Amino acid sequence: MGDAPKGVITRVSGPVVEARGLKGALLYHVAWVGPERLIGEIIRLAGDVATIQVYEDTSGLKVGDEVWDTGAPLWVELGPGLLGGIFDGVQRPLPLLTQPDDQGRPQEPYIARGVILPALDRQQRWPFTPAVNDGDHVEPGDLLGTVPETPHFHHRILVPPDYPPGRVEGLRSGEFRVREVIGHLIPDNGGPRRPLRLSHRWPVRKPRPIRRRLDPNIPLITGQRVIDTLFPIAKGGTAIIPGGFGTGKTVTEQSLAKWADADIVVYIGCGERGNEMTEVLVEFPELKDPRTGGPLMHRTVLIANTSNMPVAAREASIYTGVTIAEYFRDQGLDVALMADSTSRWGEALREVSGRLEEMPGEEGYPAYLASRLAGFYERAGLVETLGQEPRQGSVTIIGAVSPPGGDFSEPMTQNSLRLVGAFWALDVNLARRRHFPAIDWIASFTHYHLDDWFRDHVDALWPELRAQAQRLLQEERELEEIVQLVGSDALGDPEKVILDTGYLLREAFLQQSAFSDDAFCPLEKQFFMLRLVLAYHGAVKQHVRSGRCTFDQCIQESAPIRRSLFRLKEMTLDELRAAFPDLLAQIEHWSQGRH
Ligand SMILES: Nc1ncnc2c1ncn2[C@@H]1O[C@H](COP(=O)(O)OP(=O)(O)OP(=O)(O)O)[C@@H](O)[C@H]1O
Ligand SMILES: [Mg+2]
Repeated sequence: MGDAPKGVITRVSGPVVEARGLKGALLYHVAWVGPERLIGEIIRLAGDVATIQVYEDTSGLKVGDEVWDTGAPLWVELGPGLLGGIFDGVQRPLPLLTQPDDQGRPQEPYIARGVILPALDRQQRWPFTPAVNDGDHVEPGDLLGTVPETPHFHHRILVPPDYPPGRVEGLRSGEFRVREVIGHLIPDNGGPRRPLRLSHRWPVRKPRPIRRRLDPNIPLITGQRVIDTLFPIAKGGTAIIPGGFGTGKTVTEQSLAKWADADIVVYIGCGERGNEMTEVLVEFPELKDPRTGGPLMHRTVLIANTSNMPVAAREASIYTGVTIAEYFRDQGLDVALMADSTSRWGEALREVSGRLEEMPGEEGYPAYLASRLAGFYERAGLVETLGQEPRQGSVTIIGAVSPPGGDFSEPMTQNSLRLVGAFWALDVNLARRRHFPAIDWIASFTHYHLDDWFRDHVDALWPELRAQAQRLLQEERELEEIVQLVGSDALGDPEKVILDTGYLLREAFLQQSAFSDDAFCPLEKQFFMLRLVLAYHGAVKQHVRSGRCTFDQCIQESAPIRRSLFRLKEMTLDELRAAFPDLLAQIEHWSQGRH
């Protein structure tokens, strides 16, 4: 720190401080602030005045305290040891919760102010096996070797993206610490030789380079029927889950973390209340990975904003999270990033902007809210990575949004909505009726065209069934509005059939408890369920249309079939696969007037 350019604080305003005298400082350089050297980022430079957003509690800081420019942007450390890690917004490892407080409640982990902790364990040794030989020519993104990080995951050590192409020299196998030099790269351009290590650093605000973007046309399978069947998201896509208080944002994000077919999960907890974060920190390490039976943490990186960090740290956590996600993507993996809730980040932007006395935009949010959000969601994507043998990898971003009062017209929801490919709107009334997931099948949408994939990989009928279910749910909603106005007596039998099918679709198909054996529904099971419900709909419709029986008679006659439809979700895939032909035959027989 001795020679670092030094300035003095001229103003303190909550998490924002102003300093003079930081010669040569650049925008987004990290600064150490005050005698405790709190971590901050320079977010504005005007003449001699640097404005710094501080990521730690600023109480006690005063005018005249010293500030240092570290000369480097905020970066994260990337390498073995990330998985299973729990970090704060500036990637300091958080200690695991152990001791409850005096009231028996779990305590939030806590890092004292100004503490500089390396993100990755400096002592741990990792077994490294080279994949290249001395003299081999390598380019950025090329595989150097692997480290078995968990029983199920081989961490690929790549040539860092900012290294020049060159030849490998002295790369050794053996057990190494993350910062140990494991070999060298001799640049083709004659520049100085570069050390190779198991880890490297990358500035969080700079998207990691890729070879090219690909069209996202493979679904991220979530096992959630309302999502996969009606509003699927592509690998490398983006979605938001907006929802009022208690509508199921966190449960949905966690179900996706657990069940989505991603190799790696990056979970950013941006809670406002201390206990919210504590819940994540207690619950996540207990989650089981359905793929392996081991802990889900073995393929998860958790980033938690603890409540002793000021709002500004939420911004850092967003960038830290997405950079870690890109790092795993570059290894050719599918990464799912969840942020719960992005609204807390939006609020931080609003607060900091207010303190900067910037011209406010809508509802006090800064005018650059939309471009900040765009910069974040644009880091999602299905890509071909760097490297001579390019790999495919993806980052899928799923952000929760907490609109005050559940009102989706507010700026965070509206601005995010324009950027993302899928919109899973949580409805307060559904949550109140305990219809979960409370994803509103009318207000939600997806822009991803994945019907072809589902047709080729699940069943040829998939696109048709999906469209039919969507149409029926839409018709049901319209009829409900009529019923509200004039009562149900006005409805004829054909309309009653639609209302009834809407009811069946909601109860027997869309509802899915996150806390039962039905929490994950394989695509094939989703198909069987939908096929049976819609076959039954076809049968009732035909009877009513032909006048063979009234709607009420149909319901009576088909009681045993209806009972089995409601029980489908309790069946395992194997049971349903075995029972499906019989169930379908029953419905078809009945539809032909036999039963
Ligand atoms: N898929 C689901 N299956 C079963 N229950 C659910 C589901 N989703 C939500 N719930 C119920 O709703 C409750 C509230 O959910 P959750 O905590 O996820 O809401 P939230 O939107 O994150 O709330 P907050 O606004 O406080 O962050 C849960 O405790 C649970 O009882
Ligand atoms: Mg929540």
